Amino acid sequence: MKHVSVLLEEAVDCLAIKQGGTYVDLTLGRAGHSREILKRIPQGHLYCFDKDATALTESKPRLEEVGTNFTLIQSDFSHFKEELEARGVSKVDGILADLGVSSPQFDDPSRGFSYRYDARLDMRMDQSQRLDAYEVVNHYPFEKLLQVLRDYGEDPDAYRIAKEIDKRRSIAPIETTFQLVDVIKAAKPAKALAKKGHPAKQTFQALRIEVNGEEDALEALLQDGPDLLKEDGRLSIITFMSLDDRLVKRRFASLATVEGSRHGFLRPEEIEEPEFDLPSKKAILPSEEEMAENPRSISAKLRTLRKK
Ligand SMILES: C[S@@+](CC[C@H](N)C(=O)[O-])C[C@H]1O[C@@H](n2cnc3c(N)ncnc32)[C@H](O)[C@@H]1O
Repeated sequence: MKHVSVLLEEAVDCLAIKQGGTYVDLTLGRAGHSREILKRIPQGHLYCFDKDATALTESKPRLEEVGTNFTLIQSDFSHFKEELEARGVSKVDGILADLGVSSPQFDDPSRGFSYRYDARLDMRMDQSQRLDAYEVVNHYPFEKLLQVLRDYGEDPDAYRIAKEIDKRRSIAPIETTFQLVDVIKAAKPAKALAKKGHPAKQTFQALRIEVNGEEDALEALLQDGPDLLKEDGRLSIITFMSLDDRLVKRRFASLATVEGSRHGFLRPEEIEEPEFDLPSKKAILPSEEEMAENPRSISAKLRTLRKK
């Protein structure tokens, strides 16, 4: 299954690549972005992370077509700082993260990411981890389940859905994606079911985020990423959900703002320059053409932070 990279040129351009630089792709997927980065660093090195073993095995030959100056690391990127330090890397010229699920993960019926195919409730990017969607749906206490559906799915019917799940699972476990879709449909009022879009979309999104610890990973990236940048280094992040874009936007804005300048009582010489700036104040969005060709790109937003 093919993965069409989103904002490919734009994201790689935003890194303002230096030929001999050290770069990190935190979300290798099928190496679309990594291949482009590798092409531009004949004397540099690229570290590629993914927690899905398939992403690494599938991407290796694709990267080897371009060069051998790369290292594959199978790990959750929330540990990227330690993983790089263990390889003697403490500062880098650029970091890219293209968040979320890849098309090969989403379109593989057996992985249980999609409400379009019937499969066991799974949704693990890292297939060796214990927590899966079955566990969240069938064994999370009601309050915790509700919080996941509410916070990560932002579904106005989260309470009704959590209640219906709780009722059904007390009779028999909810085993499959289609069983879960039925539960969601039973929980939603007719008015909500008549709306555009699949009624299970937000619940599936919420479960996926929880199973894969996606919010924790993004928090870790926003915390550690900026510290790892060399002078003129860049951190570029592509998000697909408003939840994630809000986090990125706020963190980047606060890093690029002079704290002191907000207080009118500081003299100009007392104001410390921020260490970072934003090469583009607004998020970069896919072109009309890209959105028409690849509907997955429609909600994408790219933001970049630069260490001065
Ligand atoms: C949207 S795809 C990236 C596609 C890639 N840029 C390309 O052009 O082929 C996201 C990839 O990141 C991986 N991923 C997502 N969150 C991760 C995390 N916290 N740690 C490691 N890998 C992660 C997923 O397994 C998936 O393969």
